[in-house]
Amino acid sequence: MYKITKKEVLAPNIYLMVIEARRIAKSALPGQFLIVKMDEKGERIPLTICDYDKKEGTVTIVFQTVGYSTQRMAKYEAGEYFSDVVGPLGKPSGFVNDDIEELKKKKIIFVAGGVGAAPVYPQLKWLHEHGISADAIVGCKSKNYLLLEEKMKAVAGKLYIATDDGTYGYKGFVTDLLKDLIDKEKKEYNLVIAIGPMIMMKFVSKLTKEYGIKTIVSLNPIMVDGTGMCGGCRVTVGGEVKFACVDGPEFDGHLVNFEEAMRRQTLYKTEEGRKLLRAEEGDTHHGKCGLGGDE
Ligand SMILES: Cc1cc2nc3c(=O)[nH]c(=O)nc-3n(C[C@H](O)[C@H](O)[C@H](O)COP(=O)(O)OP(=O)(O)OC[C@H]3O[C@@H](n4cnc5c(N)ncnc54)[C@H](O)[C@@H]3O)c2cc1C
Ligand code: FES
Repeated sequence: MYKITKKEVLAPNIYLMVIEARRIAKSALPGQFLIVKMDEKGERIPLTICDYDKKEGTVTIVFQTVGYSTQRMAKYEAGEYFSDVVGPLGKPSGFVNDDIEELKKKKIIFVAGGVGAAPVYPQLKWLHEHGISADAIVGCKSKNYLLLEEKMKAVAGKLYIATDDGTYGYKGFVTDLLKDLIDKEKKEYNLVIAIGPMIMMKFVSKLTKEYGIKTIVSLNPIMVDGTGMCGGCRVTVGGEVKFACVDGPEFDGHLVNFEEAMRRQTLYKTEEGRKLLRAEEGDTHHGKCGLGGDE
C-alpha cells in the first residue's frame, strides 16, 4: 500500500499528490514514469514522476482529470492509500548520461504544454542541480491553468510563459513564442525538449525541423502493462516499431510518426478501433493488451 502524504489542487481539474514510495524515489531519474493502481480492480494509470525526494522516500505526481480513472483518483485525500504504485518505468532523459561539461555548452530550451509542465520540472531541476542552465516555455490556455510557476522559475535559466487567451505572458501558442525567440530575439538553441499534448509536440517538431534544431519529445500513448509486453504503446520512430514504455518515452521528435500515434490514440477508444489495429499491426501489436480486439 502506498500512502498519499499530500494533495493539492494546482488548477481547475489538475491535482498534485505526494506518495510514499521509497524504492521508486531511490532510483527515479528525470524522464521516467510510474503506474498507479488505486485498488485491486482499478485501471493502471501511467503518470510521469514529477519530483522525487530520495531522503523522504516520496514521489510527486501531477495529473489532470480526463476520464473515469483520473476522476476517481482525484477523490483520494492525503492519508489514504493506493493499492499499487509501480516504477520507475521507461528510460531516463538522454541527457542524464551525457558528459556534464559538454552539456554545459548546449543551449537548451524546454517547451511544455498544459500538464506537460509537470514532467518538464524534474528535468530542469536535474540540469540546474548539475550546474546547467536551460530555458523553458510553458504554455497553457489561460492564466489559471499555469502550473508550478515559482518552482520552475527557481530552476530555469529564463522562464517564458504563453497563454492562448493572453491573460498572462505572451499571447499565443508555444510554437509562436519559440519562433519569436529565434527570429526576433535571435536566441540560438541547439536542443529543444518538448512535452505536452501530442498535437503540440508534432507542431514543435515541425517548426524545429525547419530550423535544424535537434528535438526530443516525450510520448504518452495508451499504456497498459508498462513493461513492453502488451503492445499498447506501439509507436513508429524513424520507420521502426518502438514501444514507448521500454524504448522511450522520449524519442527524436523529427523521426516520430505523429499521424499514426494520434490515430492509434483515437482508435484505442473503441472495441472496433482496437480490432482494426490488431488486424493492421499483426505480430507487432502483441495482442495481449487486455483492451479487447485480441481474439
Ligand atoms: C508515459 C506517460 C506519462 C503520462 N504522464 C501524465 C502526467 O504526468 N499527468 C497526466 O495528467 N497525465 C499523464 N499521462 C496520461 C494519463 O495516463 C491519462 O490521462 C490517464 O490514463 C487517463 O485515464 P482515465 O481513465 O481518466 O481516462 P480515459 O477516459 O480512460 O481516457 C481519456 C484519455 O486519456 C488517455 N489515456 C487513457 N488511458 C490511458 C493509458 N492507459 N495510458 C495512456 N493514456 C491513456 C487517452 O488519450 C484517452 O483518450 C501520461 C501517460 C503516459 C503514457
Ligand atoms: S505499455 Fe508498452 S508494451 Fe504495454
